[in-house]
Amino acid sequence: MSKHTVEALGNLVNGQWIVGSETFEVFNKYTGDVMVKVTKSSREDVSHAIGNALETFKTTKLTPYQRYEILMKAAELFKQRKNELALTIVREGGKVLKDASMEIDRGIQTFIASAEEAKRLQGHEVPIQGQPGSDNKIAFTLRVPVGVLCAITPFNFPFNLVAHKIAPALAAGNTVILKPAGVTPQIAAKMAEILLEAGLPPGFLNIVNGPGREIGQYLLEDARIAMYTFTGSTEVGKQIKASSGIRRVTLELGSNSPNIVHKDAPDLAKAAQLCVNKGFSNAGQACISVQRIYVHQDIYTAFVERSIEAASKLKVGDPELNETDIGPMISEKEAVRAEQWIQEAVQQGATIVYGGHRKGAILYPTIMTNTLSSMKVMCQEVFAPIVCITSYGDINEALAAANDSNYGLQAGIFTSDLQLAFRAAKELDFGGVIINDVSTFRADIMPYGGVKDSGYGKEGPRYAIQEMTNEKIVVFDI
Ligand code: SIN
Repeated sequence: MSKHTVEALGNLVNGQWIVGSETFEVFNKYTGDVMVKVTKSSREDVSHAIGNALETFKTTKLTPYQRYEILMKAAELFKQRKNELALTIVREGGKVLKDASMEIDRGIQTFIASAEEAKRLQGHEVPIQGQPGSDNKIAFTLRVPVGVLCAITPFNFPFNLVAHKIAPALAAGNTVILKPAGVTPQIAAKMAEILLEAGLPPGFLNIVNGPGREIGQYLLEDARIAMYTFTGSTEVGKQIKASSGIRRVTLELGSNSPNIVHKDAPDLAKAAQLCVNKGFSNAGQACISVQRIYVHQDIYTAFVERSIEAASKLKVGDPELNETDIGPMISEKEAVRAEQWIQEAVQQGATIVYGGHRKGAILYPTIMTNTLSSMKVMCQEVFAPIVCITSYGDINEALAAANDSNYGLQAGIFTSDLQLAFRAAKELDFGGVIINDVSTFRADIMPYGGVKDSGYGKEGPRYAIQEMTNEKIVVFDI
């Protein structure tokens, strides 16, 4: 079996890395150096990979225990190669080293949780005897894999969000076609390489690479794929939903996460630090990044001061250095786009109280006040290190403002009032509500997924496996 090389990264089909005739380049997001040439898949390449995944699904079975062992072994190998894997994320993704290391740790946990779930796949007994005329029957359900599953993954967590799709898919007994983000394909290739080393038979995981949307279209048009699991923009999510017909889809899409800091927040300095650090970590490129912060008027001035103080402690620059907190965005184009949104908001009356400038792909952490709900930095997903702080007088006003969004992934609220915490949990229209921590909090075993334009379906191994399996009823006449 030939491995991919640094010079040219191929597609993975049936355990073989196949370099195509057309390639595209992947850059180091901080230095701009070319890191690798990557195969640009044609329609035929995609079809070949899907054919292989289907053939493997039909002809090769792994027992749940074998799947458990492979995923656990892969987790062990990730631990052994953690530094190399983290550096790959730093270089091709621009993520700072400490966050990249944390991402590998999280990905390892995602694999371990998926491995454990492989042993717990279960249906349930259906009390069919209670139905008149069925008293001579016994019924139960089985959880069975859907077949060939297509995972389309983003650049912002290029290891853990791939893990969140392929580890549960394999645990459930599916075969997978993975299309990693065109800007971060190498870390996905390393994950696949390690899975093969861990004993995953050829054909269970196939990778097709490509820089743009064309390849997504090839994947969507192929009826041999039984399910799509996608993380990315709402715009693309809607296209996938529209094109996938009656096939199953899970969509983890964008958001513009609100966080409410009430006057009785248990620790104001901690709340400000968390809001700032989690609004700016990964250069703000997370779907649950803190974006809109609503602060009670009694503590507003103190909160803004604390936020500026926390932001001024963050080191911005080379993501390979241990001390760096904020690195580049994924591209200069994206940083320019975010800078324009800031300027547009300023023209409409907003104030920059910290940051606001850009150097190449680095957008300096930016805190804004006097922002209106109609401004792009408020109503759209900013996906950049920008937070907007707004004051409120009445909690009803804050809850309504938080809900005033097309998105609904996760929200946060800081309060010492248990009644208010429960009220917020009930009334905030989001897939998750985090109390006394920020919207950015995610433990990898928890159900994760949004409402409204943030998508539907859940991730988190146990929940993803429910999505990635069919429940089959079995009835015995006795
Ligand atoms: C995302 O951006 O949706 C993932 C965030 C995370 O896993 O922490």
